[in-house]
Amino acid sequence: MPNAAVRTAVAVATASLLVLSGCSAESDAKAEFSGIVPAPARFELTDRGAFTLGERTRLVVSGDGAAAVAETFAAPLRTATGFELPVEEGAAEASDIELVIDPEVEGDEGYTLDSGADGVRIAASAPAGLFWGTQSLRQMLPGEIEEADPIEPEGGWQVPAASIVDRPRFAYRASLVDVARHFFPVDYVEQHLDRMALMKMNVLHLHLTDDQGWRIQIDAWPELTGIGASTSVGGDGGGFYTKDDYRRIVDYAADRFITVVPEIDLPGHTNAALSAYPELNCDGVAPKPYEGVEVGFSSLCASPARAEATDRFLTEVLAEVAEMTPGPWIHVGGDEPLATEPDDYLDLVRRITAAAAATGKTVIAYHEMGASTELPPGTIGHYWDLTAGHEMPANRRGEPARPYPESAGQAHAFLEQGGRLVLAPADKTYLDMMYPDRPAGPLGTELGTRWAATITLEEAYGWQPEATIDGLDESDILGVAASVWTETLSNAADFEFMVFPRIAAIAEVGWSPADARDEEGFRSRLTTLGAHLDGLGVAYREVGGVDWPG
Ligand code: ACM
Repeated sequence: MPNAAVRTAVAVATASLLVLSGCSAESDAKAEFSGIVPAPARFELTDRGAFTLGERTRLVVSGDGAAAVAETFAAPLRTATGFELPVEEGAAEASDIELVIDPEVEGDEGYTLDSGADGVRIAASAPAGLFWGTQSLRQMLPGEIEEADPIEPEGGWQVPAASIVDRPRFAYRASLVDVARHFFPVDYVEQHLDRMALMKMNVLHLHLTDDQGWRIQIDAWPELTGIGASTSVGGDGGGFYTKDDYRRIVDYAADRFITVVPEIDLPGHTNAALSAYPELNCDGVAPKPYEGVEVGFSSLCASPARAEATDRFLTEVLAEVAEMTPGPWIHVGGDEPLATEPDDYLDLVRRITAAAAATGKTVIAYHEMGASTELPPGTIGHYWDLTAGHEMPANRRGEPARPYPESAGQAHAFLEQGGRLVLAPADKTYLDMMYPDRPAGPLGTELGTRWAATITLEEAYGWQPEATIDGLDESDILGVAASVWTETLSNAADFEFMVFPRIAAIAEVGWSPADARDEEGFRSRLTTLGAHLDGLGVAYREVGGVDWPG
């Protein structure tokens, strides 16, 4: 690479900097590259001239795992461009994209990217970093690169000349999807994974079970899906993943360096399981399947009379889920145990977490399980209550909503027992919370809920994870999650309207160094992200203050 004169655009590129960079001023400003989401740790536009992806472009790889990354990156590019884009080893030329494993690059997920008229070079010490580098390059290409049918953009497949040094702030950057309240099929989950990859999110947390549905095949307990998967909220039908379906999701995710975290929510939120197996109920009577939206009415039975069935259920279900899970984590829920006596809850938490730990996985649980002092060492706490100082809005009857005075202490209990925290405060990261202006969704219905807050794009973006609860050190935080609960979301259009673009704000909070974040720059960079989301057919909400393409 030549010794480029580097412009001073540190951390974020903005539309105005692009004018300085000399990129085709005559082309439609909206179609121009305005920067990458999430903001790289260091981003500089250079004057080496744009790279053009063309007929002759090859992906030239070196090092273990680079070819597989190149194939995953190249597949959609071949569709969009019609170019062959072969993956080869050897010497790279100016028309090529090089993907190089280089042990000098910092961090398992870190990468460097240099682009210019003399070629593109992405380097990383591990394949995950190379992959994230390709996702930055993906955003530097015109949004048409996402189209399923080849449409060459005006001006060709140009990549601005830039130099990037990047690595994530947090190791765990999750999208939590509730497939229990409404089921979303494998094809849609794959689409969502592709959108997560674009934003460098690396954990798909699937909320697989709840009162309204059980969504994962368990061979030893077939009625969990035979009976428990037939319903969803509002009588919208059921659905579940067979083991083959689930493996498809896991494999598709793994190709994109995304780990699937399966959640079996216990001991509450279990009506679907209880409706399938009478022996799990204290009174031996299976409740009816449930299609409402209330929470906190179901529980596994702590009674010794049900211990054999309950412990066999825990052991066998969690073992089968772990067997389908190549990733290191298994999530056992634990939230809102309003139908479980406190002593019974502690007893069940001990049995649930022991069964989960016996699978060899690291256990993750919602903060409520921090009430226990007997967690397996290193259990990860998933904090979903409000950020410190945030007041919950009054409920519909005008009563102050229920406070959660103990939740911060419960989160700290995970740290005291050797674990770390995933932070997902409902007033910042719950993407099913309404926008304050409560817009109708794309299909004309009211979407979302407001029990924790209403959340603007700016409020999601302004979240500071380290200030979520008092007394946190950066090293206490494993990562962040953007959650979407689907009581009111039954189809792709409604889901996307609530999730996008606020998920991009949380993706940036999770990836970018705190000092690389700035709201104006983020809004500007959403123009480019929007062009890619358009190419992917995402029905995002065109929130105000962003120059959306199109
Ligand atoms: C939750 O929102 N109950 C995890």
